[in-house]
Amino acid sequence: MEGLSRRTWLKKATLGGGLAALASQGVITSLSAEERRKFNPRPLEDVIQLSSNENPFGPSESMREAMSSHFDLGCRYPWKYNEELVEMISKKEGVPADHIVMVAGSTEGLKVTGLTFGRGGEIISCAPTFLAMMNYAELWDTEINWVPLNKDHDFDLEEIEKRVSFETNLVFLCNPNNPTGKLLPADKVKDFCKTVSQKTVVFSDEAYYDYISEPNYPSMVQLVKEGYDVIVSRTFSKVYGLAGIRLGYLIAKPEIAKKLSERVVANTNIMAIEAGKAALKDDEFYKFSLDQTVKARKMITDTLDEMNLEYLPSNTNFVFFHSGRDITKLNEQMLAKGVRIGRPFPPLNDWCRISTGTLEETAMFNQALKEVLG
Ligand SMILES: Cc1ncc(COP(=O)(O)O)c(C=O)c1O
Repeated sequence: MEGLSRRTWLKKATLGGGLAALASQGVITSLSAEERRKFNPRPLEDVIQLSSNENPFGPSESMREAMSSHFDLGCRYPWKYNEELVEMISKKEGVPADHIVMVAGSTEGLKVTGLTFGRGGEIISCAPTFLAMMNYAELWDTEINWVPLNKDHDFDLEEIEKRVSFETNLVFLCNPNNPTGKLLPADKVKDFCKTVSQKTVVFSDEAYYDYISEPNYPSMVQLVKEGYDVIVSRTFSKVYGLAGIRLGYLIAKPEIAKKLSERVVANTNIMAIEAGKAALKDDEFYKFSLDQTVKARKMITDTLDEMNLEYLPSNTNFVFFHSGRDITKLNEQMLAKGVRIGRPFPPLNDWCRISTGTLEETAMFNQALKEVLG
């Protein structure tokens, strides 16, 4: 190790390990210098973070350029500069601009909705799911009516519908769901939203919509356009690789959108707006990002098949699998191998959520899992 700091040595060893793991799994392609420049893969770290469903690529070259060339506008408030981005989103989603509420990450949209609609009544949601709205609403004295996932690990739409009452202020859906990665059947979810939104507001969290592989799968934005009391959330954190920049939006009819926007605290910012505009124009990054996710997901499911471990069909950038080992223990063991996996999702305590990484990171996860469970 002479002349090499421990940190540099560890980095080199991890990188070597990533490439060796790739080679041993028959994955020989690595990225070209041009792809690295354009798509910005995150460097291999001493501990690989596959715990938060982040995109391992991005911000892309065009997004980085857009942010740096507008850095000088950092002294301005952002709202005046939002217009063009809102217009682009309105065109993409096919709704007028007054249907869109910009937020600094969709978590802000979830919280604002929980606060606006939850108070003085209940929110119905399945568990496990993405908890931001419910955790926040509970602090403001909203009751949460928890419905377990059904036997197929899906949101139990029949049971939710049965439980809707005068007390119900909002129903939360996450589709595809986090942590299961599963997608509800298109017709079923559409019929559910139509019926239930005539009794209460329905929220459809579509953070992973871009990863859906089923052709023409409908977004619930369709129902917003038809005037239903449905709110949809979307984010730039996933397929666009902008989780650290904080940008997302809600789509709802104007009466609802206005109420929500009055409550937004974490607004967008100048850099996020510019990055978002560049992201919507960067088709090359979008396609690359999806393509790499599909490849990494397949590497994970191939390994799970080889190890005879059950997993759920994923329409997201993560895979939920039945490790058969208590997640807290598995977490410790994987961490000791340099891989951080997802948190516990009770009551499914012997299931594990793993995010797709770069192919190198994914290969290292596969290898570590085999060593720990093999
Ligand atoms: C289902 C779901 N909704 C929302 C979010 C939050 O995304 P954002 O970064 O836009 O706040 C996440 C993040 O993992 C998520 O899984």
